[in-house]
Amino acid sequence: MTSGKRAVVLGGRSGLLGMALTAALGRAGWTAHPVGRADFDPFDQGRLRDFCREVKADAVFNAVAYTAVDRAEDERDDAFRLNRNLPRLLGLTMRELALPLVHFSTDFVFDGRKDAPYTPDDAPAPESVYGQSKLAGEQTLFESAPPGLLVVRTSWLFGPGKGNFVATILGLARDRDRLTVVADQTGSPSYTPDLAENAVRLLESGASGLFHLASSGKATWCELAAEAVSLAGLPCRVEAITTAEWPTKAKRPRYSVLDLDAFVAATGVTPRPWEQGLRDYIFKDLGLPPGDGDD
Ligand SMILES: NC(=O)c1ccc[n+]([C@@H]2O[C@H](COP(=O)([O-])OP(=O)(O)OC[C@H]3O[C@@H](n4cnc5c(N)ncnc54)[C@H](OP(=O)(O)O)[C@@H]3O)[C@@H](O)[C@H]2O)c1
Repeated sequence: MTSGKRAVVLGGRSGLLGMALTAALGRAGWTAHPVGRADFDPFDQGRLRDFCREVKADAVFNAVAYTAVDRAEDERDDAFRLNRNLPRLLGLTMRELALPLVHFSTDFVFDGRKDAPYTPDDAPAPESVYGQSKLAGEQTLFESAPPGLLVVRTSWLFGPGKGNFVATILGLARDRDRLTVVADQTGSPSYTPDLAENAVRLLESGASGLFHLASSGKATWCELAAEAVSLAGLPCRVEAITTAEWPTKAKRPRYSVLDLDAFVAATGVTPRPWEQGLRDYIFKDLGLPPGDGDD
């Protein structure tokens, strides 16, 4: 593949999704220019503007965010600085440069009271500071509306290169014979290499606006954990508990499955099921030998 295009990836050196974007762009024939803290501060829009011009960027991906969902309840200002103020600056700068921006948001903008997949047209009603700050970021971007703006809501990320829910579960399951995991929250697990590849496809389709993008299918945290432990062949029982039995500082939606139809219509591609991504993560990325659960 030789798209010959160039993209700047903010958070592309160390973020769970950012690293996957850097890799996916390369696979799709783009030249990715990842930017981390050591390169420059993303709030330094003069530096970003110069960098985009220097590398002749065709697009910018923003995978920088404040993602500590529970800590955000106590660090509201920090969460809003990264999740609202940074997108606001990026929107203005990308409008000036006339470059498409691909920005990521979250299923936590929903309150979870629905019981069918959330579409981009459903009304957001975040119940956590993190969700509120991410929604504010979306809104500020649509206000500045750089040309070709893509806001991609995604959810429940797992993938190589950085800690994530599945990696945590596998680590615990190695040391314990029993794990309890919340079974009354349902969402859309997403394998970051698939998500990143599909985000690049969406950009290449020329679409703009608000999209939902995750792996296909749905699961509870308990189902995701049980499948991971089973595939890895670990002798650990995964038992269901309720949210009430595992209280967290931030309120999470009970149900936040994302409806992917708008993405499928724009690209003609249906994302792979999360179970396939999980197999790739466990057997290819982590290099674990197939367990009893791998048929
Ligand atoms: N993880 C999920 O399950 C999930 C679910 C739904 C939506 N999302 C969204 O997906 C996007 C990517 O999430 P992620 O899980 O990949 O995030 P992540 O792994 O936490 O990465 C965040 C990135 O932001 C950078 N960053 C944070 N604070 C910074 C600062 N002050 N200055 C410069 N860089 C800073 C981090 O750099 P350092 O490594 O140097 O700190 C890192 O590269 C976010 O928009 C998030 O809201 C994630």
